[in-house]
Amino acid sequence: MPAMKYTSFLQHFLFLLGLIVPTLASGDDQFLFSGFNKSSLTLDGCAAVTDTGLLDLSNDTSGLKGHAFYPTPLHFRKSPGGKVQSFSVNVVFSTFITYQDLSAEGMAFFIAPTKNFSDARAPKYFGLLNEKNNGDTSNHIFMIELDTYNNAELQDINDNHLGININSAISLQSRTSGFYEDESGAFENMTLNGNKAMQLWVEYDENDMQINVTLAPINMRKPSRPLLSATFDLSTVLFDSAQYIGFSSVSTPINTRQYVMGWSFGMNRTAPSIDISKLPKLPLVGRRAHSKLLAFVLPIATAALILSMGTLVALVVLRRMKYAEVREDWEGEFGPHRFSYKDLFHATGGFKNKHLLGEGGFGKVYKGVLPLSNVEIAVKRMSHESRQGMKEFVTEVVSLGRLRHRNLVQLLGYCRRKGELFLVYKYMPNGSLDKYLHCEEHKAILNWVERLRVIKGIATSLLYLHEKWEKIIIHRDIKASNVLLDSEMNGRLGDFGLARLYDHGTDPQTTHIVGTKGYLAPELLRTGKASPHTDVFAFGMFLLEVACGQKPVKKNAEGNEVFLVDWVLEHWNSGLLTETVDTRLQGDYNIEEAYLVLNLGLLCQHPFPGSRPRMREVMQFLDGDMPLPELRQTQVSLMNMEALVKSYVSDASVVSYPQITTGFGTVSGLSGGR
Ligand SMILES: Nc1ncnc2c1ncn2[C@@H]1O[C@H](COP(=O)(O)OP(=O)(O)OP(=O)(O)O)[C@@H](O)[C@H]1O
Ligand SMILES: *[C@@H]1O[C@H](CO)[C@@H](O)[C@H](O)[C@H]1NC(C)=O
Ligand SMILES: *[C@@H]1O[C@H](CO)[C@@H](O)[C@H](O)[C@H]1NC(C)=O
Ligand SMILES: *[C@@H]1O[C@H](CO)[C@@H](O)[C@H](O)[C@H]1NC(C)=O
Ligand SMILES: *[C@@H]1O[C@H](CO)[C@@H](O)[C@H](O)[C@H]1NC(C)=O
Ligand SMILES: *[C@@H]1O[C@H](CO)[C@@H](O)[C@H](O)[C@H]1NC(C)=O
Ligand SMILES: *[C@@H]1O[C@H](CO)[C@@H](O)[C@H](O)[C@H]1NC(C)=O
Ligand SMILES: [Mg+2]
Repeated sequence: MPAMKYTSFLQHFLFLLGLIVPTLASGDDQFLFSGFNKSSLTLDGCAAVTDTGLLDLSNDTSGLKGHAFYPTPLHFRKSPGGKVQSFSVNVVFSTFITYQDLSAEGMAFFIAPTKNFSDARAPKYFGLLNEKNNGDTSNHIFMIELDTYNNAELQDINDNHLGININSAISLQSRTSGFYEDESGAFENMTLNGNKAMQLWVEYDENDMQINVTLAPINMRKPSRPLLSATFDLSTVLFDSAQYIGFSSVSTPINTRQYVMGWSFGMNRTAPSIDISKLPKLPLVGRRAHSKLLAFVLPIATAALILSMGTLVALVVLRRMKYAEVREDWEGEFGPHRFSYKDLFHATGGFKNKHLLGEGGFGKVYKGVLPLSNVEIAVKRMSHESRQGMKEFVTEVVSLGRLRHRNLVQLLGYCRRKGELFLVYKYMPNGSLDKYLHCEEHKAILNWVERLRVIKGIATSLLYLHEKWEKIIIHRDIKASNVLLDSEMNGRLGDFGLARLYDHGTDPQTTHIVGTKGYLAPELLRTGKASPHTDVFAFGMFLLEVACGQKPVKKNAEGNEVFLVDWVLEHWNSGLLTETVDTRLQGDYNIEEAYLVLNLGLLCQHPFPGSRPRMREVMQFLDGDMPLPELRQTQVSLMNMEALVKSYVSDASVVSYPQITTGFGTVSGLSGGR
């Protein structure tokens, strides 16, 4: 690797060297420029070297002359009085024009005794002569004109020709630009004003006194037949003294540019050949070139701009979509309770499964931490298709947010998106009660004292909902999984108020009365109407579940459903009620309290709503303020009948009740008059 780097560096260095430094062998015998720098040439007038290394002989200012000389004058004779030696010149040049139809004076290669051309005229005389001295043998000027202007005065043949000129702007010999093909010998036209790079060779042979001028497109070997060939003894023209060689041009109102890209010279030898690949690139000059440049660059730049803007807009839109919410006018008043989706998204780590607490009938529950306050939350993410009942639901849910009770899971707020609703609750670090009751362990995780405390807590919260608030709130989904345990193992009732969302305005025929089997009061199944009595019924089931540590409905060995209440009732009938108490407690419980809880559970499960105690009474029974009435045989037989119906319903496929979906807590009006 380093070796390669070094080599490429060396190549690069040599390339630069070759580009800039003229290769001078034995004195001034020969030189080679592949591109120029400011010190490679002596310049005057409008001649300049561009940053890219081109010799630019003309500029935009009309009427100026431009000359570029090889810095040191050359001796064309070996010794004073001797013959002018053979020499050879190779040039790569290009003429750039802005207006194709108009042409201006071209340029010339010259050998002259002086660098002072202050007397020369522009534009006609290539900036080398004037009308007075034109043709004078005292000029001692040899030049090759690359003429792009048809000047009758100077006997030009056309506006695209080359000429050999001695002391004069009138050519000794001239010919239309072009070359003779080596193979066919055919003449091929070339256009000097073609905005193309081309090569020029000027050769003089001291013996034949022959001057050959050859033109060819770039990338072509020198044609063997020269375009111009004249015999003229340059010894009669060029001075004994050192001669300046270089290029000349004039600038005209028509923006024409004469560029020399490379130049080599050899005295008494062939000029070193110019390596085309090392030449500086021609600029895209002039308005045409500019428009060409723009034609290329503009669409690309525009496309790039549009693309990047589009990407930006798309990103912004995607970002907005990602966090888009649904907000309606009527929600304004609930502002403080409204969470931004973005906050919830970040709080729950983008609703990742890692943060999933559990899944219920309404949707998934995620744990989260609010970004700024670091408050731990549980976010219930529910989908809702219709907007029906949404207003009432949100109104109630948010008003429920004002409920404060030490045995209720506090609702902190909500958020809405298209098709989704989020309810934000306070996070309960100890999870839901069902996990403690129905665990695999043989030893109870929750002892009797804790269980009774939870029961009492839930009873007070339910009493609060039914009676202590400004309107009656029916929970409708009381069950062990909706009882959560806070950090002090207090039972807290959650999931109140999810009713409106599904229940509102739907056809009673199709209403899904949903809840958990065993928790649904018989009249609820018949009428679909929830009441505080249906809540008490469910609370009764909850009491049995906690005391017995068993699920409300179980499958027996034959695969038939067995209801916990029937099983407890059986034991009641046979006077073995204590046997129903959770065996995992291992007898470590207060028998009287257990009797109370089990009997109260059965009482609350009374098939007749009116015969069930109210929550106020339930509280009094639990607190021992009032003795629990004896369960009467009538209720027991009624319950036995109920059990019969239940077994019939669960066995038969003909169901007169609306469909029951286990574990699904869709449901009902939260409120009603008192
Ligand atoms: N506030 C909370 N703090 C901690 N965990 C919670 C909270 N709310 C719910 N959970 C957990 O998320 C689980 C799923 O709750 P979810 O209410 O969705 O289902 P469910 O209670 O089993 O059924 P339902 O949909 O009828 O309420 C619960 O079992 C509980 O473990
Ligand atoms: C320019 O070229 C000359 C030779 O003509 C060389 O001596 C000089 O170092 C070069 N200058 C720069 C800046 O490359
Ligand atoms: C043209 O050359 C002249 C003489 O060097 C200079 O004064 C003028 O600024 C140049 N014009 C442009 C447009 O470069
Ligand atoms: C150039 O020549 C003119 C007259 O031919 C003369 O006036 C001028 O001083 C010369 N300039 C230089 C720099 O030699
Ligand atoms: C070459 O140029 C001459 C003079 O302009 C013209 O008559 C001739 O048709 C041209 N030939 C080709 C092949 O373009
Ligand atoms: C000039 O061209 C002629 C014809 O191709 C050739 O014979 C002669 O050697 C050339 N002279 C020089 C100096 O290249
Ligand atoms: C030119 O070079 C040749 C050899 O390449 C040599 O014989 C001849 O003397 C040289 N002429 C002059 C004038 O130096
Ligand atoms: Mg729940």
